Amino acid sequence: MEIGMLALLGKTVSLMENLGFLWLVHTGFELNLWESLGEEKSKQKILAENVNWNPLLLDHWLEQAKIQELLVSNNGNYQLSKMGRAIQDYRDYGLEAMYKEFALHWGPCFGQLPDLIRGEIPREQMDREMENELISRASKASEPFVWPLLKGKCAKDRWSNVLDVGCGEADFLRRLVEEFPSLKGVGLEINSSVANRAAAQIGSNQGRIRIESKDVFDFTDTLEQYDCCLLNNNIYYFSRVKRVELLNHLKNLLSPGGQIGILTALRGVTPSFQIFKTHIPQNLMSFFLSCHEGFEGLPLEEEMIDLLEQTGFTQIEVIPLPFKVSHYFFARKPLD
Ligand SMILES: C[S@@+](CC[C@H](N)C(=O)[O-])C[C@H]1O[C@@H](n2cnc3c(N)ncnc32)[C@H](O)[C@@H]1O
Repeated sequence: MEIGMLALLGKTVSLMENLGFLWLVHTGFELNLWESLGEEKSKQKILAENVNWNPLLLDHWLEQAKIQELLVSNNGNYQLSKMGRAIQDYRDYGLEAMYKEFALHWGPCFGQLPDLIRGEIPREQMDREMENELISRASKASEPFVWPLLKGKCAKDRWSNVLDVGCGEADFLRRLVEEFPSLKGVGLEINSSVANRAAAQIGSNQGRIRIESKDVFDFTDTLEQYDCCLLNNNIYYFSRVKRVELLNHLKNLLSPGGQIGILTALRGVTPSFQIFKTHIPQNLMSFFLSCHEGFEGLPLEEEMIDLLEQTGFTQIEVIPLPFKVSHYFFARKPLD
């Protein structure tokens, strides 16, 4: 067989396998099978617990999950494999939201790509469920990579007053105040349903974290008050022009010598070391975002550095996260 044809065949087969994986994982979340199969169960037992379920389709799901090494089976009983267990363990770390996003939103969106590129249909608003829930939840997936870095930076630079812009569910702010007893923070979140979830999760940290549901541009708190301003996973909400306006605005809120920390996935990054054979998911994410009205996709590294320089920040530091899944850009407001 011709080598190109062979390569194409390989890609097509692995595409089918990957699509299968996506639908299996998403369905397992929706039907709570990842939790339920934490203990060994037969198909009959699952059906007895869910009397309306379709036996034929459940049979296929179990068979596929076994083929994809998500379940192991023994004498007609099924149980999670190590990978299956990881799915359940990381469910609330953005995994469930991420799979829902891929299964329900990426497919239909990219299906319209020919018409979008031809200009036959306009770019649509981001779906409500995506806006209100999935984007902020899915971004938690980078937390295991981000948190050690953020904690180390905070310990070294002794932040005491942090502004978290577009804080989502405020997980980073919460972890910061829990780790550093004298730290206080304000979380800004434009989306009121996300802000309500953030406020509900603050718990015992109420005196030290304040969540404000507002657009960052409407936040004109006491100027020069914050020694750190975080902009995590949201620079892509702002157009190139707006990014300049945003950084100038945040500079006014920072104290002299205060730091800005911008966490973002980038376009145009090739992972230097690949444990997994990836297809640069950041770029696909950028592609997906760009299909929507008001989104310009992810920035390039040079664009981020230009932006910080153009808005007068100094001591720019670029820190790639493991596997270059994302980058943190830190910079300071000059002292005078
Ligand atoms: C992807 S989430 C990231 C959440 C969190 N920072 C994290 O890293 O997990 C981005 C959040 O920024 C919020 N956001 C976007 N534009 C904003 C604005 N102009 N002012 C305040 N929040 C904004 C969105 O509503 C969304 O919840």
